[in-house]
Amino acid sequence: MLTTRPRGTSDILPGQVEKWQYLEQVIRRLCREYGYSEIRTPIFEHTELFERGVGETTDIVEKEMYTFRDRGDRSITLRPEGTAPAVRAYLESRLFAGPQPVKLYYIGPMFRYDRPQAGRYRQFHQFGVEVFGSHDPAVDAEVVAMAMDLYSRLGLSDLELHINSVGCPRCRPVLREKLQDFFRSRLDKLCPNCRDRLGRNPLRILDCKEKSCIQASEDAPTSLDYLCPECTSHFQAVLKYLEELGVAYTVDRRLVRGLDYYTHTAFEIMAPGIGAQNSIGGGGRYNGLVEACGGPAIPGIGYALGLERILLTMEQQGISFPRPPGLDVFLATADPAAQGQAMVLVQELRREGLAADRDYLGRSLKAQMKYAGKLEVGLVAILGSDELKRGVVALRDMATGSQEEIPLDRLGDEIKRRCAGIK
Ligand code: HAM
Repeated sequence: MLTTRPRGTSDILPGQVEKWQYLEQVIRRLCREYGYSEIRTPIFEHTELFERGVGETTDIVEKEMYTFRDRGDRSITLRPEGTAPAVRAYLESRLFAGPQPVKLYYIGPMFRYDRPQAGRYRQFHQFGVEVFGSHDPAVDAEVVAMAMDLYSRLGLSDLELHINSVGCPRCRPVLREKLQDFFRSRLDKLCPNCRDRLGRNPLRILDCKEKSCIQASEDAPTSLDYLCPECTSHFQAVLKYLEELGVAYTVDRRLVRGLDYYTHTAFEIMAPGIGAQNSIGGGGRYNGLVEACGGPAIPGIGYALGLERILLTMEQQGISFPRPPGLDVFLATADPAAQGQAMVLVQELRREGLAADRDYLGRSLKAQMKYAGKLEVGLVAILGSDELKRGVVALRDMATGSQEEIPLDRLGDEIKRRCAGIK
């Protein structure tokens, strides 16, 4: 137990973490260009936020939350998603009182107690955005286009964008009734959970992963058949804007999404080829959520993308990552008596903004050179007592093997000059 991590979690080790840093760098740049500000909410929240926000009949709330009582006997939940926390923060900090729309983004770990498999973890990471305060269908289109823009900046191709309108509280009751009528005659084909859901939230049956329920709902009525005029014109406007932006989409009338807060636009992006867990992102509008969380009637829309699944897809599509910068220079000491000066010199180089390191294991000069080679450092500065007396170091170019004496007071500048030449 002491040396095993909990199932469904991972360590992101050096070698891998640079890919994450690159991904985060591309995301942060994208968000700046689209006018989003970062928000960081707590990893845990009051359980009620998700029960009310995500929906009590969803898989997430029914079976996937990490919920526990804290020492003060409060029910606490590790966040399974980022939208409800963003809404809570928007209300708690009265962001609705400032200029609208408010455009927020987040990157961070989420927690769901699900059966782990390739692409599905119990701790995973999402990049998400939320926009509060605008009904404009142009925002829906822009949000979708932004997600697609990120994938294309990362070099991903052959993705499928599925989009649907799940209606609003005005058209939902009609659909609800039609679904109840439809499934009532197929009760014996539904899983016990869905039989139970039929009365409370029949829409959830369309999202059930049980084979029998998938089969039973094949010809079920869909939201598009019963949209109210306002939802229809909103959806048509979104699709028109997407066409104008050159974003290819497929209208998927069976798309319902696994969270209850959606109204109007709902979308999901699939990466065929990464296995069963091929949804690399999804989102939609949630015009009733702010109000359901106790705030004013303010509309919202957003999405979240799974970072592990994006990385999996990048690997599967053979996309290479930029080489992370390593050390600029390694300081090797030829004489144990020079250790003190080596320490000071490395510190000075770092103060000049260079990435510098040295030996801490008392290695011989030969072993230090070998170690520097393993670190793939381009330059090694060799410090011996004779060189020290003369105020110089020998600077070796590891690629060519050529070596040159450099006065100590010029060492930083010389390294910078050579690194600039390489970069
Ligand atoms: P979601 O569809 O539940 O939506 O999750 C979004 C993405 O997170 C998925 O498409 C997938 O890439 C990733 N993901 C979900 N569960 C796992 C898991 N167990 N392991 C690995 N990756 C996973 C939401 O969470 C909504 N909050 C999105 C949203 C934001 N809607 C509006 N605003």
